[in-house]
Amino acid sequence: MEEITNVMEYEAIAKKKLPKMVFDYYASGAGDQWTLAENRNAFSRILFRPRILIDVSKIDMSTTLLGFKISMPIMIAPVAMQKMAHPEGECATARAASAAGTIMTLSSWGTSSVEEVASTGPGIRFLQLRFFQLYVDKNRNVVAQLVRRAERAGFKAIVLTSDAPRLGRREADIKNRFALPPFLTFKNFEGMEKGDESGLTSFVAGEIDRTLTWKDVQWLQTITSLPVLIKGVLTAEDARIAIQVGVAGIIVSNHGARQLDYVPSTIVALEEVVKAAQGRVPVFLDGGVRRGTDVFKALALGASGIFIGRPVVFSLAAEGEAGVRNVLQMLRDEFELTMALSGCRSLSEITRNHIVTDWDAPRALPAAGAAARL
Ligand code: FNR
Repeated sequence: MEEITNVMEYEAIAKKKLPKMVFDYYASGAGDQWTLAENRNAFSRILFRPRILIDVSKIDMSTTLLGFKISMPIMIAPVAMQKMAHPEGECATARAASAAGTIMTLSSWGTSSVEEVASTGPGIRFLQLRFFQLYVDKNRNVVAQLVRRAERAGFKAIVLTSDAPRLGRREADIKNRFALPPFLTFKNFEGMEKGDESGLTSFVAGEIDRTLTWKDVQWLQTITSLPVLIKGVLTAEDARIAIQVGVAGIIVSNHGARQLDYVPSTIVALEEVVKAAQGRVPVFLDGGVRRGTDVFKALALGASGIFIGRPVVFSLAAEGEAGVRNVLQMLRDEFELTMALSGCRSLSEITRNHIVTDWDAPRALPAAGAAARL
């Protein structure tokens, strides 16, 4: 087979390999899929302002996140039901993340349990940093149990998904009558009496609490000692509230364009959230990141790191753990090259002046003062 040279190529391979119902579930967005396209397109409206003649013989991409050192600011977002892509599912993803020295976030709706993911790994000399993504169930005992299990299993943070009080309307899933294949289960809920385990909407999705508010975020923080990151913030208003209630970090996300269609791409929404956060908590981004150049652009706009979703399940479908490793490696290599060609040796050297966006046309060239400071 021809060498895979970029992350996007895995999508076509996954499409060939996977049953249509599964591929469509992974690939699709909500409604007209305007936001889905925009999550990618918006990156192309950001250009570089590279600096030259800087010694870039050594590039350091490492960073510290919530006190944990990771090898690069590229992490793995929670993606549900990964065993539909590959029999090793979430465990393969977790091992690939560990081998790359980065963080994997396990979905509440995993087809592997927190305990299974916690106990998998390529060996103790590799990093075992995992976050647990939480959908808040109507039954708070279920939530408390899940959080306790994640803590006990050694997960390092809770990622609270806040943009899915109801599931977005994904037409492909409706047409395909999407349901989890009967040989798989939502492992984190196994043993909890929750009725029909096969139909997504009739089971877990129906259990998401639509009454969820900021008060529940506060409650969550009282039942866990783990840092809570809030995922799904798209506005300065919500960023301010999130900080008031004491979250440890914010993830600017539109759920991979699977929830409300016609929200802006995350790379466009990022800057207002960063400004509102005023450096009080780290801000992360997910949505449409497929290139090392995208990673650089997000960091230049103030993100502390990014997460990838679909590339994980597409590469998992194509090549299992090796595929996910390759995705992380390709992004790492591209990001390192982007840093070098922009004249940045460490993440702290990446600045807003290294890019120009179509929404700051008036300052296509930075003010004289800003240029002089560089
Ligand atoms: C998701 N996402 C998601 N988010 C979450 O909080 N819990 C979940 O269980 C899932 N499940 C899920 C399944 C699939 C198939 C996709 C594509 C996405 C959203 C995910 O965490 C992330 O926000 C996006 O995937 C990021 O966008 P990209 O990288 O897929 O463009």
